[in-house]
Amino acid sequence: MAETQRTARLEIDGKTLDLPIYSPTAGPDVIDIRNLYSEGNVFTYDPGFTSTAACDSSITFIDGARGELLHRGYPIDQLAEKSHYLEVCYLLLYGKLPNADQIEDFENRVTTHTMLHEQMVNFFRGFRRDAHPMAIMVGVVGAMSAFYHDSTDINDPWQREVASIRLIAKMPTIAAWAYKYSTGQPFVYPRNDLDYASNFLRMCFSVPTEDYQVNPILSRAMDRIFILHADHEQNASTSTVRLASSSGANPLACIAAGIACLWGPSHGGANQACLEMLEEIGEVDRIPAFITRAKDRNDPFRLMGFGHRVYKNLDPRAKVMKQSADEVLGLLGVEKNKKLQVAKELERIALEDDYFAEKKLFPNVDFYSGVILEAMGFNTSMFTPIFALSRTVGWISQWKEMIEDPAMKIGRPRQLYSGNTRRDYVDVEDR
Ligand code: CMC
Repeated sequence: MAETQRTARLEIDGKTLDLPIYSPTAGPDVIDIRNLYSEGNVFTYDPGFTSTAACDSSITFIDGARGELLHRGYPIDQLAEKSHYLEVCYLLLYGKLPNADQIEDFENRVTTHTMLHEQMVNFFRGFRRDAHPMAIMVGVVGAMSAFYHDSTDINDPWQREVASIRLIAKMPTIAAWAYKYSTGQPFVYPRNDLDYASNFLRMCFSVPTEDYQVNPILSRAMDRIFILHADHEQNASTSTVRLASSSGANPLACIAAGIACLWGPSHGGANQACLEMLEEIGEVDRIPAFITRAKDRNDPFRLMGFGHRVYKNLDPRAKVMKQSADEVLGLLGVEKNKKLQVAKELERIALEDDYFAEKKLFPNVDFYSGVILEAMGFNTSMFTPIFALSRTVGWISQWKEMIEDPAMKIGRPRQLYSGNTRRDYVDVEDR
């Protein structure tokens, strides 16, 4: 953390506190309130953490006003265009772009960990056939702590490294098997001669009667979707992983907690909800009615794939995703896809509407991703698992950074209590 001479002066009931101000390498200054309670006997109140920095991090930076996303300083659009997912994983985990030997070694390590312990097959089989793949992922990833004891000691750097590689390597197998199980098809084992994205596509779509020939354009599009979801600084699921890990819990259990958080429709579940919304709208001429509903405070309906806590400008990931949607649907010969047409028109109308302009609501990463994934052949229920597998590296990188930070403390927020004050117990006959 940067040394500082600057302070913010706070006066509470005649007592003056000088709070240090830090200037980060990018983004707004940060006031250090760690001694506020011990010196001022007050807490701060910030539900939803809209103004609170909970950690010091050097992994990802978002400039919400400019619509900029940087991983270790590199802009997301450059990474999506020039890099590939495993290289981005290396960058997020180790802080720099790898040289040729380093990436080869990293890819080998990931590739040789893609299989799951065979007994885990029984675990999948214990779920109901109609279970949502996210429910299966939460359960199976949590259960990994019971299968891989030799990578659960967070105080051992080697075990931390093995856990990181295992999670990145096994997550596509877990997601693909959750999918296979829900469709009633046999599990397809990973293949070490395929790249990360191609291997995932094959595990999802190959069947014993017919092998799946991976189209390089589709595997490139899949890889790009992985890159665009890889990390997003202190979002809800990442903060969940950090909070769960702050107690010293093992990383496999903590990533399961992150998956559970991601599932919600305000977070990773928005891609499924967005495609379902496009389906419900159905026709371009029905858009105005949905826009009216989204603006009505008394109607809980929101435009899914629109708005973001941090971006008050176009989400840079949405820009790349829109391009990708055109490419993939063009390749598959479905340029006239109804949902893509509805999505584009909905975006156009919303961006011209004063409500969305005033509230600075723009399309986010989830607005176009569902259209691409559906065109590739995925059921809507697989959209959020794909987000989870992509985000695993972000969760792990943030977890690793936290564990290696000497300032790490168990996370323990305070509260503004508004319940009853002390009162005496009343016997049941007297109530
Ligand atoms: N449609 C209509 N109105 C909206 C929308 C929307 N999608 N998003 C926000 N608003 C309105 C909201 O009603 C509120 O209005 P008012 O000030 O009159 O009460 C105002 O904008 C601010 O909304 P908020 O809920 O206080 O903002 P937030 O920062 O807490 O929420 C959000 C951010 C992403 C949860 C929200 O924009 C939303 O629910 N969007 C739809 C779900 C979605 O697409 N989520 C994916 C986010 S990107 C992927 C990820 O990171 O997981």
